[in-house]
Amino acid sequence: MKLVRLLILFVAFPALAQQGGMWIPSLLQGMNEKEMKSLGMKMSVQDIYDVNHSSLKDAVPQFNGGCTSEVISSQGLLLTNHHCGFGEIQSHSTVEHDYLTNGFWAMSQAEELPNPDLEVTFIVRIEDVTTKVLEGTQAIDEKARVQKIQQNIASLTKTLPKEAWQENSIRTFYEGNQYMLFVTESFKDVRLVGAPPSSIGKFGNDTDNWVWPRHTGDFSLFRIYADKSNRPAAYSKDNVPYKPKYFFPVSVKGVKENDFTLVFGYPGRTTEYLPSVAIDQLVTVLNPAKIEIREAALKVADGFMRKDKAIKIQYAAKYASIANYWKKWIGETTGLKKTNAVAIKKAQEKEFMARVQKAGKQAEYGNLLADFEKNYKAIEQYSLARDYFTEVALRNTELLTTAYRLYQLELVFKNKGAQAFTDRRENMIATLTEIYKDFNKNVDEKVFEQLIELYGTKMPKQFVPAAIAGADYKKLTAEVYGQSKLTSLDGVKELLAGDPAAAIARLNADKGYQLLKAMAETQTEKVMPKYDELNLQIAALQRTYMKVILELSPKEARIFPDANSTLRVTYGKVKGYEPKDATYYEPVTYLGGVLEKYIPGDYEYDVPQKLIDLYNKKDFGQYGEKGKMPVCFIGTNHTTGGNSGSPAIDAKGNLIGLNFDRVWEGTMSDVYYDPSICRNIMVDMRYVLFIIDKFAGATHLVNEMKVVK
Ligand code: ARG
Ligand code: ASP
Repeated sequence: MKLVRLLILFVAFPALAQQGGMWIPSLLQGMNEKEMKSLGMKMSVQDIYDVNHSSLKDAVPQFNGGCTSEVISSQGLLLTNHHCGFGEIQSHSTVEHDYLTNGFWAMSQAEELPNPDLEVTFIVRIEDVTTKVLEGTQAIDEKARVQKIQQNIASLTKTLPKEAWQENSIRTFYEGNQYMLFVTESFKDVRLVGAPPSSIGKFGNDTDNWVWPRHTGDFSLFRIYADKSNRPAAYSKDNVPYKPKYFFPVSVKGVKENDFTLVFGYPGRTTEYLPSVAIDQLVTVLNPAKIEIREAALKVADGFMRKDKAIKIQYAAKYASIANYWKKWIGETTGLKKTNAVAIKKAQEKEFMARVQKAGKQAEYGNLLADFEKNYKAIEQYSLARDYFTEVALRNTELLTTAYRLYQLELVFKNKGAQAFTDRRENMIATLTEIYKDFNKNVDEKVFEQLIELYGTKMPKQFVPAAIAGADYKKLTAEVYGQSKLTSLDGVKELLAGDPAAAIARLNADKGYQLLKAMAETQTEKVMPKYDELNLQIAALQRTYMKVILELSPKEARIFPDANSTLRVTYGKVKGYEPKDATYYEPVTYLGGVLEKYIPGDYEYDVPQKLIDLYNKKDFGQYGEKGKMPVCFIGTNHTTGGNSGSPAIDAKGNLIGLNFDRVWEGTMSDVYYDPSICRNIMVDMRYVLFIIDKFAGATHLVNEMKVVK
């Protein structure tokens, strides 16, 4: 009944598929602006994005390529999630100074901690360069076209105007139907200023991850430093706090249901225009395989981490990142099934074909969906093989990942010679030195034992190397971890030392290396050529499909480009939801809920005594609301991975929250956005300020902000 109703709604009135969408900030005039105002926005779209005046976009840098952050003071103070700064917090932590467990607060700028590999990137301006990128690409075949576009992009990136300290990059939108230039500025001296203990910043850990109701204070603070001219510069103790073009005022006025919200950030990747056949494959074949692999790896690591403090620190970031998508895929698969996404897409496809017919374009586009079907069926085994290799070798077994890096070095030797090998060797050792700091042989060996068996038994047979197919997996594991030099940094150094040719020979005699090489070569020879060929065809079909959707959809249809790690605006309202019959989730959580979840000493639900005391005394300062302390809230903003750390902004442009997650029932929003159950999760800024001020006593940081009451 529900499905039928949804179908009718969607097919007949696409405009009623209210909200959802991640919009390009320079193109908000018109439909978006009208919709935003109707939802309660009081700003103009120029307040959000403007090239000639400072605007909100000047306060929203991408954080280290994968998250979002926002500037919240005139001295370059930067806010992002705890899980986005996690790697940095971990890197400064030891068993003696455990900032993950205890938190960290710089009580003066001199105490702020530099982070060698961290950078944040601001957008200076965005321009449409489609015509230039597509020059000379008419009437050539798909492979040549891809090459020509790559050439054009490379030369435009070099020649389009920018200042010396800026960078150009060109990105595609609508699957190759539009290209945009981004002029950016990257700051490389970004220091850690503050982080709550994990019992606040990561409260609820992996059990609460992707789940509402949520009670996590998922934030951390950094500061951007610049040279004396306020320009980007490498770390120097002489650098000074960056003076931003714009910074967000922080509101303590609070939120209530139906308030307008805007989330501004860098969503990474969505695939909202997949044909039904692709979604079906995701749900029935690819996701289940990846989930099974990660589940096995996580179980092993978890066992060790619960028993050993040092391992807990070493594996904290790796574990969190692997667990995150493992859980996401489970939620996504469940959600796609439950919402009947495949059936809904099929109905949309029927509608699409009817439009094609009506437009008299049957001859041109009539085969599109059948071609999708054919190509997705053909690619299935190759995609699966690629996923097995990626997950087992490149993602979850560290010995194999290291071996793969060394294999790249062997390829350099083969293709470019001994000198090129020598040039890269030192860098490789430096990288591996970092990696081995957090490597534990016993953990990895147990992971290997589990995953290599999955590789041998569940991977499509024709892609399993002889050394793995039908092996005794316990024995194989004991051999590899008993004999391979890759189980320690010293071992790797020994392998790589001296004469390049001799080093390569030593590598090739190593048991672990041999195994990875066999796996990698099978990929290169048997999987990737066919995969690439089919994938190229699928990409071309997807481009055409997108083009026709854009051309033939009714005027009022809201067609947004898939996320591609570029700056986007998404907007909606603070809103609860009904995940199942007779169940309604309120949109706001409170500190009382933290105490309800409290389990003393627990790995996930411990609560610091100081927070309990503040709660008992109701000592919430200016941040509480009628004797209660708000913690998190949800809204109808369409977000994805990469939006973490994004500012949640009120109707007037004040910062009210910090985006960090989505609700379990709506994790399929990357593939199919259902406005009735898809919600993003934000930390209330009042909780952030409360923790900084009342809990940590870092009141000087709040004083640095512009607090709106
Ligand atoms: N699910 C959120 C996002 O995708 C938060 C992840 C961090 N937390 C964790 N337990 N792994 O990034
Ligand atoms: N937690 C995600 C991130 O790190 C956000 C999301 O997927 O909703 O970007």
